[in-house]
Amino acid sequence: MSNEIQAIQGVEREFEFTDDDFRFIVKLVKDKVGIKLGDHKRDMIYGRIARRLRALKLKTFKEYCEFLSSGEAGNEVVDFVNAVTTNLTKFFREEHHFEHLREVSIPAAIGANTETKKIRIWSAGCSTGMEPYSIAMVLLTIIKQKNLSNWDIKILATDIDTNVLAKAQSGNYTDHDIENVPVRYREAFIDVDHKAGTAKMSQELKNLISFKQLNLMESLPFKGPFDIIFCRNVVIYFDKPTQKILFNKYADVMRKDSYLYIGHSESLHNISDRFELIGKTTYKKTK
Ligand SMILES: C[S@@+](CC[C@H](N)C(=O)[O-])C[C@H]1O[C@@H](n2cnc3c(N)ncnc32)[C@H](O)[C@@H]1O
Repeated sequence: MSNEIQAIQGVEREFEFTDDDFRFIVKLVKDKVGIKLGDHKRDMIYGRIARRLRALKLKTFKEYCEFLSSGEAGNEVVDFVNAVTTNLTKFFREEHHFEHLREVSIPAAIGANTETKKIRIWSAGCSTGMEPYSIAMVLLTIIKQKNLSNWDIKILATDIDTNVLAKAQSGNYTDHDIENVPVRYREAFIDVDHKAGTAKMSQELKNLISFKQLNLMESLPFKGPFDIIFCRNVVIYFDKPTQKILFNKYADVMRKDSYLYIGHSESLHNISDRFELIGKTTYKKTK
């Protein structure tokens, strides 16, 4: 049995991991990333951070926690954040959002911006890029259909985790990853090699997206106005005060009547009154 499996099953642990160590990590994750870790996440945290201890050749979690708080941890803080984030994602996840994007929110953005000819879409918490590339496929199809190639149209895609951003930027996936992509988009925008098992996003799609590292806990480095924001399956582990601050910041950088999509288990009920629920996990910014 591997050490990691032993740890998860609580049989025997490779590294000493005390209540104080767990409390230190919970506080650091809450302060740095906004994520609230419950006691049930203890084994998961052990498994993920144990990899960092091995990489650094440390013997106990106490040593690791001391290193993180020493002020000399440097890049290890980045590796720590990367280790604790959950990056599960999928192309065209929650398909109804992409239907709404195609039928309602992109046409509305075009209508609202005929003078500036500028459209901004933000995928906040974009993980390995499957969400912004899905948006880009819908958007590029409309740009071509409506001859909008002279417009200034961009998708901003951000995440706190530098590993997932590197993967997103490469635009390289497996043919298994793109199973959920509708055939018409696959044929138009993805170079699939079934023999090699690879699926590469086209340069046209890549050109539409700017990937940037951004911690949503910090003040936003751009003013917008955004026409559409996707922030899905990101705030699920944030506590309510943190969610209130974040959705208020989003509303500040969104055009009036612009659209916000959130994750299937998330809600703005008692979080923000600046958005109106207009469909399943779909909101319009009202004030
Ligand atoms: C579960 S993924 C969701 C990906 C995508 N939005 C989707 O729904 O498929 C959540 C992403 O949020 C990112 N994240 C978590 N906390 C964050 C923070 N404070 N700032 C920026 N990104 C964060 C994680 O790194 C992770 O990639």
